[in-house]
Amino acid sequence: MCGIVGYNGKNQAAAILIDSLKRLEYRGYDSAGIAVFDTNVVEVYKEKGRIVDLEKTLPSISGTVGIGHTRWATHGRPNKVNAHPHTSGNIAVVHNGIIENYQQLKEKLSRTGYEFVSDTDTEALAHLINHYYKDNLIDAVISALKDIRGSYAIAAICGSELVAARKDSPLVIGIGEGENFIASDIPAILKYTRKIIFLDDLEVASITPDGVFFFDTCKSPIEKKINLIEWNIEAAEKSGYEHFMLKEIHEQPRALHETFAGRISELEGNISFEGSNLTESQIKDISRISIIACGTSYNAGFLGKYLFEQLAGVHVDIEIASEFRYAHSSPGSLVIVITQSGETADTLAALREAKSSGCRTLAITNVMGSTVTREVDNVIYTRSGPEIGVAATKTFISQLGVLYLLALYFGKIRGKISSDQMKRMLVAMKMLPAQITRILNNKEKILKFADTFSSSSDFFFIGRTLNYPIALEGALKLKEISYIHAEGYAAGELKHGPLALITKNTPVVAIATKGLTYDKVVNNIKEIKARDAPVLAIADEKDSEIEKYVDAVIRIPTTEDILSPVLSTVVVQLLSYYIAKARNCPIDQPRNLAKSVTVE
Ligand code: G6P
Repeated sequence: MCGIVGYNGKNQAAAILIDSLKRLEYRGYDSAGIAVFDTNVVEVYKEKGRIVDLEKTLPSISGTVGIGHTRWATHGRPNKVNAHPHTSGNIAVVHNGIIENYQQLKEKLSRTGYEFVSDTDTEALAHLINHYYKDNLIDAVISALKDIRGSYAIAAICGSELVAARKDSPLVIGIGEGENFIASDIPAILKYTRKIIFLDDLEVASITPDGVFFFDTCKSPIEKKINLIEWNIEAAEKSGYEHFMLKEIHEQPRALHETFAGRISELEGNISFEGSNLTESQIKDISRISIIACGTSYNAGFLGKYLFEQLAGVHVDIEIASEFRYAHSSPGSLVIVITQSGETADTLAALREAKSSGCRTLAITNVMGSTVTREVDNVIYTRSGPEIGVAATKTFISQLGVLYLLALYFGKIRGKISSDQMKRMLVAMKMLPAQITRILNNKEKILKFADTFSSSSDFFFIGRTLNYPIALEGALKLKEISYIHAEGYAAGELKHGPLALITKNTPVVAIATKGLTYDKVVNNIKEIKARDAPVLAIADEKDSEIEKYVDAVIRIPTTEDILSPVLSTVVVQLLSYYIAKARNCPIDQPRNLAKSVTVE
């Protein structure tokens, strides 16, 4: 995700900004820029690509106040014009997050004479701050923030003033001697200071060389606590988490929030997508959908099959990309490829095959500017932020988020769901990020089960209908990172073979959330218990029956039946993580596996 840095102090700003930005490189980015106030003007330098590319273009810059940014594109392609900082008059702004109403703001500001040069949402914020500017930056920023909807961490300069603010995106302030700092994350400034203040939502800070002053959005002063950081740089890059995978699992509430941002209007029961030009009549005419993907993306697509069939009344074939090219069946009239990296060779080959047979194509991906985005007809971004751990976690959750949105959107257009159903679903979907946080805050039982069974050599994950793809994903996660043999099975299939393997030494994770097939899954659990296997159930928090049949239960918050796979996913991810940790496995880089597989 984007990285922000800011500096106001006794030293030259440019070198400190560049150095700090380099320490945010691990977050992933596609362009970088800085703005420094030099005597009378704000000078802006930005480039597409790496920070070293930007560095090569920099003249000698004098000025002791400035801001910097690494951009991970969400609105507009990764290029120099869209790179931050964005300016309006003498004001320069960097931003992390999504301004959901930027289109309306852009129209309004254009009418009053502001000229837009980029495709970004951030530029609207720069002009808005300028619009409100009278004689000081902090008042202008506070006024502008009242007009924007969405998430943000921002840093802005005007003259020698430096202001920061946040809502839903991280920002920290570093306290130095005669100099103070802003950063998205602690490692960026740990070299300069260990005294850190965490900015909270809807707080604004004015950063001067001699002090930092905090306010709420009514400009009432706030007292903040200084934290002394004792981590080293490597630990800090993982924000204190032991592995990127664990950090990314914990980033899921935010990733899903970003996936939904600006796309859901639960009051009107509407969903909208930027980047998709499928018309209503094309959506009504779809006779069959093919979803094509690999690995974890395939498992997301498999859940998508159930969603499109249930919510939009359209048949879906789910295809493994490496097999699809050699199949002799023709694809559906819409082909959806799912690939977090946008670079998986098998998926790209399948996409090309599908295009050659003349069907419409749509990609769900996380990486703007990736190969898939250049070859496909329509793109929907998952907006999960960069994922570093090889085992996909937050990108999977966001892929599910997009699939729910798409299936509902198609369902509404095809007349398969009522406006009331739509509103109910959207309200429930908006609650998912907070419900995921509840699971993350309550993981003792998962840890206990993981410790008890970490030396097992075989595991089964079972589920029916919507939970079957999550059983597949649970088994995939476990085998990827813990090297335990694990299989995901449709619970009803156990008795047709794998039951022969079930003994007291084969733990089974049964996804047994309430819904159409609950009673049948309970029957399958009884069959397993009759063979003495230990069973962990993932069940609804209101289910008072399940513990009679199993050895341990992990509860998930109550939601619409159809949404519960999102919550069960978090449990199987944590379980896999803690088992792998107990086995001392190299969790972020499992043997033989790669994050992006660019060979067929
Ligand atoms: C690799 C990764 C998996 C990923 C798969 C598909 O195997 O290790 O985590 O699910 O590729 O990647 P994609 O980028 O197409 O989603």
